[in-house]
Amino acid sequence: MTELAYVNGQILPIEQAVVPIEDRGYNFGDAVYEFFASYRGRLYRVEEHLNRLERSLRELHFPPVSREEIRDAVLRLYEASGIERAGLYLQISRAVAPRDHAFPATGAPQVIMTVRPVHEKPPELRQSGAAVITVTDIRWARCDIKTVQLLPNVLAKQQAVEAGAFDALFVSEDEVVREGTSSNVFIVSAGRLLTHPLTPRILPGITRQVILDLCKKLALPAEERFFSRNDLYAADEAFLSGTVTEVLPITRVDGNSIGDGKVGPATQKLYSALREDAGAAEQAS
Ligand code: PDD
Repeated sequence: MTELAYVNGQILPIEQAVVPIEDRGYNFGDAVYEFFASYRGRLYRVEEHLNRLERSLRELHFPPVSREEIRDAVLRLYEASGIERAGLYLQISRAVAPRDHAFPATGAPQVIMTVRPVHEKPPELRQSGAAVITVTDIRWARCDIKTVQLLPNVLAKQQAVEAGAFDALFVSEDEVVREGTSSNVFIVSAGRLLTHPLTPRILPGITRQVILDLCKKLALPAEERFFSRNDLYAADEAFLSGTVTEVLPITRVDGNSIGDGKVGPATQKLYSALREDAGAAEQAS
């Protein structure tokens, strides 16, 4: 089991991997990323992540990048690591080029990756649920593109940590709850699951979609519908969803309990169903 990096075709130890100072990802945040996780030696939902990656590249008018080559590289790095339960970051920047805001006339997309064991969430957090705070969404208007420009997310997460909370939820100026700093959010209200519709204001989470599909399978009523901060306060259950977050119960928001303050039945059911879908059911707690 080895933590490894990949830089434009070359696999090497993470400490030895470097990028040039004129990489546009570094100078302008002109780069997109994906985060994959594996369960029991297999990367989960690879094609869904590649679909989203292709969309991010297209929306930012990147030069063509071969999906097959990226898939091969991801699988090659993952196999080389030998890590059963890994987290793999893939980042593609537009080019290395002398600093100029406009796209460079030459220069190819730069592909870098890292692979490491997943830092599992502490079991206590999964059992008692997370506390979150709400913050004003100061992000740009294309949060549907998975770019490395994450400064508002970084600041919001830090604010949560300083408040003794696990995460922050972005709320719009007109009180719509968007998503977490690195996760989507669901609530259960009047027996229905609600999550923000797919608009440019949120990331189309792979886990979010898996959960919506699982709701159909489990006959749990679910709707992609806007909900407000007050709806969140009044919800019976709430949870975050994401690749390593999986289904993480939220039991406190802005210092107040959600529902009875315990992890609710729909949250529990969906956590188990997601772990089963990922082939990790036996490890579920
Ligand atoms: N983040 N929303 C935001 C803003 C995210 O950054 C992420 C993922 C999600 C959930 O997407 P998915 O279910 O596809 O992981 C929602 C990754 C995990 C990260 O930044 O590390």
